Amino acid sequence: MTTDTAFNITKVSESRIKNVDLDNPGFGREFADHMLEVEYNDGAWQEPEIKPFGTIETTPALNTLHYAQSVFEGLKAYYVDEGTINLFRPEKNYARMARSCERMCIPVFEQEVFMDGIAELIKLDHKWVPQKEGNTLYIRPLACAFDQMISARVSDKYRFYVMTSPVGSYYQRPVKLTTSQKYVRAVKGGVGEAKAAGNYGGSLYPAQQAKAKGYDQVLWLDAFEHQYIEEVGTMNIFFVIDGVLITPNLSGTILPGITRASVIELAKYWDMPVEERRISIDEVMEAGENGTLQEAFGAGTAAVIAPVEEIHHDGSTVRVHDEERGLIGQKLYDTITGIQRGKIEDPFGWTTSIEVNS
Ligand code: COI
Repeated sequence: MTTDTAFNITKVSESRIKNVDLDNPGFGREFADHMLEVEYNDGAWQEPEIKPFGTIETTPALNTLHYAQSVFEGLKAYYVDEGTINLFRPEKNYARMARSCERMCIPVFEQEVFMDGIAELIKLDHKWVPQKEGNTLYIRPLACAFDQMISARVSDKYRFYVMTSPVGSYYQRPVKLTTSQKYVRAVKGGVGEAKAAGNYGGSLYPAQQAKAKGYDQVLWLDAFEHQYIEEVGTMNIFFVIDGVLITPNLSGTILPGITRASVIELAKYWDMPVEERRISIDEVMEAGENGTLQEAFGAGTAAVIAPVEEIHHDGSTVRVHDEERGLIGQKLYDTITGIQRGKIEDPFGWTTSIEVNS
């Protein structure tokens, strides 16, 4: 990939990389040397800048902190070899971010700024892309209001940032899920399908309650009937029932995941029966009880393909996977991560390669 956008670049005087264990980076706590910053003032996005990752100056009146006019994305950079780093379907992240921005009244910036900004950052910080299998450089674009005012109205100023963070697995082992009969993540007409900051803030309280009972996450149900499965908040959800791969359809309340789309496209490519449809929790619990629930896994950029250990609903529990992914989940994981790291053929043209100076 070559870049056209002109960037004003200020490099760090000394890299912090020697302080970081790229084999064991955890998730989202370490940040690479540089970040992208673009300001929106006077009705236009200004010149993009790349500068050392660091603090931003503001006051507690920053309206984003009060009213959550803020959206973000998540994608990853994958180590292929010493001269090549891959991105996975980054244009899809841009398209979703543009939709999220529109929904949250944030002015949309050009696709080139997003794509070229990420490519420039990766070229500068490519040594931060972990080589170890399963580890990656997580890329976090963020766009948010940047006025200093205590008034719940659309801002005049915005910032677009891209920061990067070396990461390992988001989930170390299969996840335990529980439904909630009381709380919901999103309603039709709300912001559930946008990658809006508030979606995540609002889910923390029910997730903490689930954790206190020994579950990793909430398996969200629809807001009206508390019956139809939506997503997990950190990832989309898939079930294999009687040989059919089933996932909730995009109803306007769930995140249109890029890993979700890739799973569906791959399964169809393999001629596997796939259904995107309403699926009730009762159907899943029943399949668990009668032995037709063969697999359950989450799919997301951070989570990749995360097996579900058990699902708890209304006093009953079904167990799905112990330590390992199921056959289909494993095949999807191997294929997606193989394509991402350039180890297997990419028949869909999903990867974008960035040449870096070794
Ligand atoms: C991602 O998968 O990229 C996300 O943004 C989910 C987040 C919980 C890390």
